[in-house]
Amino acid sequence: MRILIIGANGMLGQDLIKVYGEDPVNEILAWDIKDIDITDRERVFIKIKEADPDFVINAAAYNAVDKAEEDEGKKMAMAVNAEGPANLNAVCQEIGATFATYSSDYVFRGDKKEGYKENDLPDPINNYGLSKWEGEKKVQTIGGDYYIIRTSKLFGHEGIGENVKKSFITLMQELSQKMPELKVVDEEMSCFTYTLDLAMATRFLLEGNFKSGIYHVVNGEPCTWYGCAQTLFKILDKKVKLKAVPASDFPRPAKRPQYSVLLNTKLPEIRSFSEALKDFLGK
Ligand SMILES: NC(=O)c1ccc[n+]([C@@H]2O[C@H](COP(=O)([O-])OP(=O)(O)OC[C@H]3O[C@@H](n4cnc5c(N)ncnc54)[C@H](OP(=O)(O)O)[C@@H]3O)[C@@H](O)[C@H]2O)c1
Repeated sequence: MRILIIGANGMLGQDLIKVYGEDPVNEILAWDIKDIDITDRERVFIKIKEADPDFVINAAAYNAVDKAEEDEGKKMAMAVNAEGPANLNAVCQEIGATFATYSSDYVFRGDKKEGYKENDLPDPINNYGLSKWEGEKKVQTIGGDYYIIRTSKLFGHEGIGENVKKSFITLMQELSQKMPELKVVDEEMSCFTYTLDLAMATRFLLEGNFKSGIYHVVNGEPCTWYGCAQTLFKILDKKVKLKAVPASDFPRPAKRPQYSVLLNTKLPEIRSFSEALKDFLGK
């Protein structure tokens, strides 16, 4: 099988390479923005037709949630998160390849405490979420053999791309070395998800006999940022003074959903957040 991984330098992209690389029958093409800009439709068609992959997995995205509230950022988010997946799915349909792309819990408003199922109607409250929802709709309209995988709050080993963002887990570990007390937002309940587990679940989905559509992949045990920090330092057996604070203590340009727990009703469950975090931390 020839697998094309786009956004290969990102946090998830790196784990997709690891997971697919475990099987010697797979030929992996790992591309990032220097190899292909997914917003450039003409180049996307030329290069992907030439490469002729069986699977195209798109881990590329514009993830700057706050910058997306500005005009330029919104344009970028729409181009990368909506036009990009549409370009990729269109060429996949022409060459008969299977397409997978990632969306986010931020497509939801965040007022459903019991969580969101795959077929719940999105209603985003920020431009990043809007761009992801636009991407979902475009991919669905094009159709073909496609998978839209919604996930949330990723953590894993840092990517190697130019705009790599530290995950919250890494940030907390670093801050705990420097500060006597950490103030952490005790709001925005959702599921932290390990990129390695997400990559494995992606492979399971693509290699299984599943219908095209939307899937939710998250580690279990939803929590707030504060809950996440508590779990982290408990696993590390490290005494860190944590103070739970409201989100209003850290004002940010983009609104965040209050409750955006993704419910997985279509795939086998993956492990809990604390198990995944232990594995990531080597504990
Ligand atoms: N991180 C989270 O907490 C989170 C939550 C929910 C959903 N997701 C989704 O999960 C997926 C993987 O996220 P991630 O955190 O692994 O992403 P990431 O680390 O930010 O990696 C994204 C990669 O895409 C590249 N890229 C950006 N624009 C591109 C373009 N126009 N064409 C080609 N490549 C481009 C980036 O390159 P540069 O670094 O050079 O810009 C980077 O290497 C994304 O769809 C993301 O939206 C993430």
